[in-house]
Amino acid sequence: MSHAVSLGIDLGTSELKAVLMSAETEVLGQAGARISVSRRQSGWSEQNPADWWQACVTALDQLRAEQPEAWKRIECIGLSGQMHGAVLLDQANEVLYPAILWDDSRAMAQAEQLNRDFPDYAEATGSLAMAGLTAPKLLWLKQHEPALFARIHCVLSPKDYLQLLLTGERVSDMSDAAGTLWLDVARREWYAPMLHATGLTLAQMPRLLEADQLSGHLTTEAAWQLELPVSLPVAAGGGDNPVSAVGIGAVNAGDAFVTLGTSAAIVAITDHAAGHPPSAVHSFCHALPNRWYTMGAMLAGASCLRWVTRLLGQPDEQTLLTLVQTALPVDQPVAENAPLFLPYLAGERTPHNDPLLRGGFMNLGHDSTPAMLGYAVLEGVGFGLLDAMNAALSAGASVNACALVGGGARSEYWAQLLANILEREVFTLQGSELSACIGAAKLGFMAIGQGADLPRQGLPIKARYQPMLSTQPVLQARYRKFRGLLPAARGLHD
Ligand code: XUL
Repeated sequence: MSHAVSLGIDLGTSELKAVLMSAETEVLGQAGARISVSRRQSGWSEQNPADWWQACVTALDQLRAEQPEAWKRIECIGLSGQMHGAVLLDQANEVLYPAILWDDSRAMAQAEQLNRDFPDYAEATGSLAMAGLTAPKLLWLKQHEPALFARIHCVLSPKDYLQLLLTGERVSDMSDAAGTLWLDVARREWYAPMLHATGLTLAQMPRLLEADQLSGHLTTEAAWQLELPVSLPVAAGGGDNPVSAVGIGAVNAGDAFVTLGTSAAIVAITDHAAGHPPSAVHSFCHALPNRWYTMGAMLAGASCLRWVTRLLGQPDEQTLLTLVQTALPVDQPVAENAPLFLPYLAGERTPHNDPLLRGGFMNLGHDSTPAMLGYAVLEGVGFGLLDAMNAALSAGASVNACALVGGGARSEYWAQLLANILEREVFTLQGSELSACIGAAKLGFMAIGQGADLPRQGLPIKARYQPMLSTQPVLQARYRKFRGLLPAARGLHD
């Protein structure tokens, strides 16, 4: 039995989390530090990269104080992070501008421009250009901040900035690089035509590695600040969705999971780059060599439930979920004409690629109750995921049983409703709220040659939910109505 410990760090959008994990994948300690998002203008979403480092130091201080013995046994570090963010550096690695995040929609016109001028590029990059992805953001900067654009020496994804401060290396990995839209995902190398289309060159890109490769060693300065040994090995790490997949053991074609956090996604692992740009899915590189995944991505997931809870003046999500469960038991069909909800509070990626789309309730009556509206929101997010799953299937991915991870996985009601809507078994996992950190810690071990079997190891199953046939006819009818509302929603902003 090895005594080695891996430090897994996940740079989320609202929190940086870190775990200490043994070689037997036991989580020995965890800590977190909140990070705030700045929204200077409507549709903008930014963070200060210095805040990420501060959050990292805070979380690791806490971890070290709580787990001094395990801390001394750390032999490697692995990283995970929010995808598609643009960190802009000058020659001296100074940050030139706030990091523009995955849910920032300022680059809408630039995404349209790229799709119009270079319609074939999506085949190589695995996705249509979308406002939230990195490449259109750089085109926006080129057009709106030309002086700043001229000073850009390197563009990094968020977790790569932590990598830079840890090791001094400008490195990215295939899974995060795919999310920039500058990667040829099948070949796993930078795609120069898309770089040129956004006014950049290969020289401005970091060195590319696989997520489980060794990317560098802790610098003296970082080691001193974090109270870790100098030269501790660090793995390249990857984007949060693929690293979560490694965390839960979703590594083979056909493995699939739904993540229900601020955003939501359905992720299906593939053994080839299975893209279908017209349906606005992403076909990106997995955080393991020779593997890919197809993802249908939604911009608002569990955040819709948080939103409606506040709107209805309920004290917390659990209270609203209890109201829903009492009034509309999940094993009984709801009234076919109950209220419907479109979950587009932040626009949508898959399958609509429309950042301006907005959500809404339909079919309200004098008799509509908070429980009915709560139900409509849970169901509406489920229908959005069904749209996303159908888009992934159209790309040739297969989706068997689906794991459910993220904050939304805490609700058994929602898990059962999703099984009914997706017509797939849905299962929840113990410890899945830490899946990205666990995946990152596994990548750390792999980078030092200690974890060949780790990716396949999953988390213990908490509960399984089989689709209930009795609810399906009504859900199918309601899904058709949900789809029918889209043209009206579109028409409101055309
Ligand atoms: C994935 C995506 C989000 C971010 C935020 O495509 O945009 O899941 O990675 O964590």
